[in-house]
Amino acid sequence: MHVEGHPYRTVWSDPEQAVVRIIDQRKIPWEFEVEDLSSAQEVATAIRDMHVRGAGCIGATAAYGMWLAARQAEGSPERLAELASALVETRPTARNLGWAVERQLEALRDLPPDKWVEASLAGAEAIADEDASWCKRIGQHGLPLLSAIHEQKPGNEPVQVLTHCNAGWLAFTDWGSATAPIYAAHRAGIPIHVWVDETRPRNQGARLTAWELQNEGVPHTVIVDNAGGHLMQHDQVDIVITGTDRTTCSGDVANKIGTYLKALAAHDNDIPFYVALPSSTFDWECRDGMGDIPIEERNGDEVSIVEGRTNKGGLEEVHLVNPDSPTSNYAFDVTPARLVTGLITERGICDATEQAIATLFPSTGRK
Ligand code: MRU
Repeated sequence: MHVEGHPYRTVWSDPEQAVVRIIDQRKIPWEFEVEDLSSAQEVATAIRDMHVRGAGCIGATAAYGMWLAARQAEGSPERLAELASALVETRPTARNLGWAVERQLEALRDLPPDKWVEASLAGAEAIADEDASWCKRIGQHGLPLLSAIHEQKPGNEPVQVLTHCNAGWLAFTDWGSATAPIYAAHRAGIPIHVWVDETRPRNQGARLTAWELQNEGVPHTVIVDNAGGHLMQHDQVDIVITGTDRTTCSGDVANKIGTYLKALAAHDNDIPFYVALPSSTFDWECRDGMGDIPIEERNGDEVSIVEGRTNKGGLEEVHLVNPDSPTSNYAFDVTPARLVTGLITERGICDATEQAIATLFPSTGRK
């Protein structure tokens, strides 16, 4: 995807400098900065403190972190396992993180230590490439949904899509999940307009999704999180597409806090609610989303303090909440499968049911 006309991925390696390069998402949209990470610990900090975020991007970054871990382990399986655990423990909800680290460990398991560095770099590049190509395919599979809506609309009216949080290319290595059908449709000449939920408390929609769509020239409008239901009641939304951080084998969807409320409003208004995901986001071991998906709780400061640009151009934090009131900060919620119209994956679209998912992904090692 593009930043001021230049193509970028969210994470890549520089083997000569032995560093992993990431786009520091904490600075967007105010500044565009690339950060170098030179140890697995620095990668862990970047994931925990959300320099990088979004399920696919976290997974790919951790995969590159395993390359740095292999360099640091110097042939010790115990040290490698320790660094791998430190990466996995950074964020509990996004499945892609554990998936990528487990895949890297598995690839190294039977290799002699002198092959670890080379193999883990190749593994990380493969995970990043796969993430980009899976997201591109999600776009190709989702495109007909948007073109069918467009054909039903009078004149050349834009398809109105609502999305929550940032499941765009910044949340993956490229293309994004929820945004991939939008980018595909936009490039195919289908008029699209995106309602972007601001997504409190960290404002991934207002800051990241809006910035991405602007860089790709996709018309969009940022709304407060509570506006979606009103827009749906007034025929201003044709389809909702979100991403997901972990989806069970039965189709329950964990995604950024507030997603469930959008699904309820969409259901009440007969608006299709789709979730886009690569297969690396499925948790094949988990069936009960409400009971078994770990929901990350983050620092309450994210609720009470907000960062923004002042009229004078500086970046500042301001306090929003009554100083002596406690805060709570659940980062994700679970939308039950019954509220999900369909899952858009790299293999096609399926119902959010265990049977339909298993038909699309027959060999997954599900219990
Ligand atoms: O906490 P974040 O920013 O890492 O949250 C992840 C997300 O961006 C969303 O939940 C997104 O919709 C799914 S991630 C592809």
